[in-house]
Amino acid sequence: MKQTTSFTCTVCGTAYRKWAGKCDACGGWNTIVEEAPLSTGPRSLGAKGRPIPLSDLATEEAPPVRASSGLEELDRVLGGGLVPASAILVGGDPGIGKSTLLLQAAASFARKGLKCIYISGEEASTQVRMRAQRLGLTDARVALGAETNLRDILTTLDAERPALAIIDSIQTMWLDSVEAAPGSVSQVRAAAHELVTFAKRRGVAIVLVGHVTKDGQIAGPRVVEHMVDTVLYFEGERGHQFRILRAVKNRFGPADEIGVFEMTGGGLAEVPNPSALFLANRDQPAPGSAVFAGIEGTRPVLTEIQALVAPSTLASPRRTVVGLDPGRVSTILAVLEARCGIPFAGLDVFLNVAGGLRVSEPAADLAVAGALLSAREDVAIPPDMVLFGEISLSGALRPVGQTENRLKEASKLGFSQATVPSHSKFEGAAGLTVRQMADLTAFVGEMFGAG
Ligand code: TYD
Ligand code: MG
Repeated sequence: MKQTTSFTCTVCGTAYRKWAGKCDACGGWNTIVEEAPLSTGPRSLGAKGRPIPLSDLATEEAPPVRASSGLEELDRVLGGGLVPASAILVGGDPGIGKSTLLLQAAASFARKGLKCIYISGEEASTQVRMRAQRLGLTDARVALGAETNLRDILTTLDAERPALAIIDSIQTMWLDSVEAAPGSVSQVRAAAHELVTFAKRRGVAIVLVGHVTKDGQIAGPRVVEHMVDTVLYFEGERGHQFRILRAVKNRFGPADEIGVFEMTGGGLAEVPNPSALFLANRDQPAPGSAVFAGIEGTRPVLTEIQALVAPSTLASPRRTVVGLDPGRVSTILAVLEARCGIPFAGLDVFLNVAGGLRVSEPAADLAVAGALLSAREDVAIPPDMVLFGEISLSGALRPVGQTENRLKEASKLGFSQATVPSHSKFEGAAGLTVRQMADLTAFVGEMFGAG
């Protein structure tokens, strides 16, 4: 029996034979839609194929020359510049600044002598030009195009052979060979496949812009993630001016690297020293604040973790967490209760990472515990102290990597004390007074009197 339709989750791309209300793979509700199936081509493998040339691992070839944009925050996230013929996905919420970032990037690459083409499927050329004018980029030789038909775009790119092509956005592109609406999973997947294949064959680096929507209305760029070499996410809280470009996958460099930008009236400005910025608006020593010396990718970044603990009127008190993993916070609360005898039952807990950064390192545990205890006991942590260390379920503190880099950054920003786990490995303390603690109970005793 020939199957004519299939059902696909618009968020994660999982295929189903029948419609269902909930996607078993990603847990999304009402995300499964009917799609025309992708053509799988002729089934028979009986016909003879053509042998492909194979080669050794050893190579005489020089590594590809990376192109630098001159925007240091961007180059670092790319792993040290743009790799020729690579495919990059830049995802993010609508309105976060993806088009602005990529127009600025295109202009920077063009000023360095790269041939750049910017194809907008969302805005007319005049709109893009107006934005370029406002950003002061009109002198850069970037070729603009407004088109959504992928066949025409590929023909143009093939004729022009730029070094870099930006496709804004992948959700607006459509192929006439696929019978589905633009933005559907089949269209996005097919269009991305065509573009990535083109990038490899013709040696054109391609950047795809992808919108992520929380409700999964449009096919998320997650179906594209495994096709491309590099996945970057552009994040930030809408109300904040900071924007973080984060590498979540990179075949040509370290993942987890971040670049920090600030959204200004004149576009995105680079923030070469994010620690200073994240700590800039710090008030006088206040209960509930702890400074975490973290590592983002290859760079140390200091952030302030803020906690508020207040009596709750709710049967199950509130746990509101911004910028941290809520599961991790629950674990820390449970360890504080079980190992140190400090209950948070009947108390609402609010936690926030200042500046809109998202912290995912377990090394932040100690700073989170410090902020929570400081808020609960109403005792301020010394303002010149940084904290870091992982908390294990037994309440022991475990050393984390790159202790020395964290201490150096803290010293550079004028901090003079650090509280770290015992057995942390470091040679020099960079002028800081370092206190090593074996477990959370010792920490509580030392900082806040007996628990
Ligand atoms: P945009 O790049 O269009 O977002 P995306 O492509 O991710 O949807 O950015 C839109 C937002 O950026 C808009 O709300 C206004 C703001 N913005 C500035 O604050 N300053 C600027 O110079 C520009 C160009 C945009
Ligand atoms: Mg846009």
